[in-house]
Amino acid sequence: MSKKILAISGSTRQQSTNQRLIDAITAIAGSQLQLIPFAGIDTLPHFNPDLDTEPAPAAVADFRQLIRSSDAVLICTPEYAMGAPGSLKNALDWTVSTADFSGKPVVLITAATSGEKAHASLLGTLKVIEAIIVGELLISFAGAKISKEGTITDPPTLEAVTQLVKDLEKSLE
Ligand SMILES: Cc1cc2nc3c(=O)[nH]c(=O)nc-3n(C[C@H](O)[C@H](O)[C@H](O)COP(=O)(O)O)c2cc1C
Repeated sequence: MSKKILAISGSTRQQSTNQRLIDAITAIAGSQLQLIPFAGIDTLPHFNPDLDTEPAPAAVADFRQLIRSSDAVLICTPEYAMGAPGSLKNALDWTVSTADFSGKPVVLITAATSGEKAHASLLGTLKVIEAIIVGELLISFAGAKISKEGTITDPPTLEAVTQLVKDLEKSLE
């Protein structure tokens, strides 16, 4: 039976490289992994502990439920101003109190111009919310490696992403 992978793009941009990367991974993954794109990080309210009560805001409750019902989570994200995009960090902050990522297999790909800082910062966040990192990849100069049509044009990047998909499949067997 195919496994459900919630795919979160840290970019809300229409022509996002990270969204295209998710599309490319969907094609590479084939039928073993069912990627479910999460299009809602920009619909989540700003995290506020005063609102982090039951019942949670509807968008937050839906997001948490999607994580819980997925076998794993794939995050593809750019770096903004030497850190993680605020909307992605905001989404992760909503999962702290409910521990939705605890024990959840996660693949993190940072696709940016450089991306080192966001990648390290997100690995730290994912660790503290007890996600299990089953794969991680930093794709620097991502704009030159992923085409507008959603093809990974850089052979070493394609190889690394294909290996990540295999590792993810294996971790879910
Ligand atoms: C406001 C802004 C700030 C950025 N800051 C950084 C940065 O600090 N480091 C970096 O590597 N890339 C930075 N970038 C570049 C993006 O990470 C890069 O273009 C990425 O591929 C965009 O992803 P997307 O196409 O999925 O939106 C920045 C882009 C924007 C718009």
